[in-house]
Amino acid sequence: MRAVTYGAYAPDNSALSYGEAPDPKLGPGQVRVRVRAAGVNPVDWKVMAGGLDGMMDAVFPVIPGWDVAGVVTELGPDTPEFAVGDEVMAYARKDVVHAGTFAEYVAVPAPFVARKPAALDWAQAGGLPLAGLTALRCLDHLAVDARDTLLIHGASGGVGSIAVQLGRERGARVIGTTSPRNHDFLRRLGAEPVTYGEGLVERVRALTPDGVSAVADFVGGQLDVTRAVLTPNGRHVSTADNTVDQHGGHWVWVRPDGTKLAELAALADRGALTVEVSETHPLDRAADALTTLRTGHTRGKVVIVP
Ligand SMILES: NC(=O)c1ccc[n+]([C@@H]2O[C@H](COP(=O)([O-])OP(=O)(O)OC[C@H]3O[C@@H](n4cnc5c(N)ncnc54)[C@H](OP(=O)(O)O)[C@@H]3O)[C@@H](O)[C@H]2O)c1
Repeated sequence: MRAVTYGAYAPDNSALSYGEAPDPKLGPGQVRVRVRAAGVNPVDWKVMAGGLDGMMDAVFPVIPGWDVAGVVTELGPDTPEFAVGDEVMAYARKDVVHAGTFAEYVAVPAPFVARKPAALDWAQAGGLPLAGLTALRCLDHLAVDARDTLLIHGASGGVGSIAVQLGRERGARVIGTTSPRNHDFLRRLGAEPVTYGEGLVERVRALTPDGVSAVADFVGGQLDVTRAVLTPNGRHVSTADNTVDQHGGHWVWVRPDGTKLAELAALADRGALTVEVSETHPLDRAADALTTLRTGHTRGKVVIVP
């Protein structure tokens, strides 16, 4: 099959290549998926740079990518949950970094897989799993409900733009930090935008003088702001700051979970959740997608469409 691979860790795209790779092996309880779309996430370039080597082994050459939407083409032994031809999506992270989704085919354990919502096109479905499951895990941990005012740091990115919608769906008031060019985008999603940077605490206080009851941080380095605007019993989580547990918050780590992913699919099919895809790239230009992600200024999702 055609795939993107890298043979060693690198801080840039220098180790990336595009060419032939062996088809993924298909184990018991797995489905082989023909990739129609593969969402790109900051973790893809972080893994590629060796940033997760202390947590996970890599077997080179590595095919990067953990998000997929596509069509089931083959079933491993004893995999009755799915059928050939099913349109599915998954957060396909495995224990070893090796056979990812930036490829024509990927094998995925059935418990990671959910059916693709009809309301989302392929690119949107490919961009949903990792970011959507992260946002859902954060909001579940915070137990956000209609009594909350939720501040989201990084509300216009992949995780943030979905967290905004999940917060609104639960009835919360949502304030989201972003740059001015994304204010209208956040308003469309139902959030009140505030510009990040110097003076952020004052701008949040101007919107909500009594403070916010919950904070979800998708940027990192925001603890001073968070503590300045959080009410005394407020809750906070971060996906991007590993010191947050030492400050009364919780460091969230997303897990592959087909059941939770199906919850997100149901929200999409009810019209309560959509995925903003700001860029798509063909498989042979995956390097361009990773370059965009490294800027840290993408809106919604960047997706590879083989
Ligand atoms: N622990 C986990 O399980 C987990 C899971 C998913 C993601 N993450 C991490 O969470 C972070 C967010 O992921 P993502 O996929 O949402 O990233 P992303 O899509 O790359 O986020 C980009 C967005 O961040 C905004 N942004 C940049 N600097 C900002 C700042 N100082 N304040 C507010 N917004 C800012 C940008 O807005 P402008 O363009 O307007 O500047 C842009 O829209 C990353 O660090 C990622 O590695 C962790």
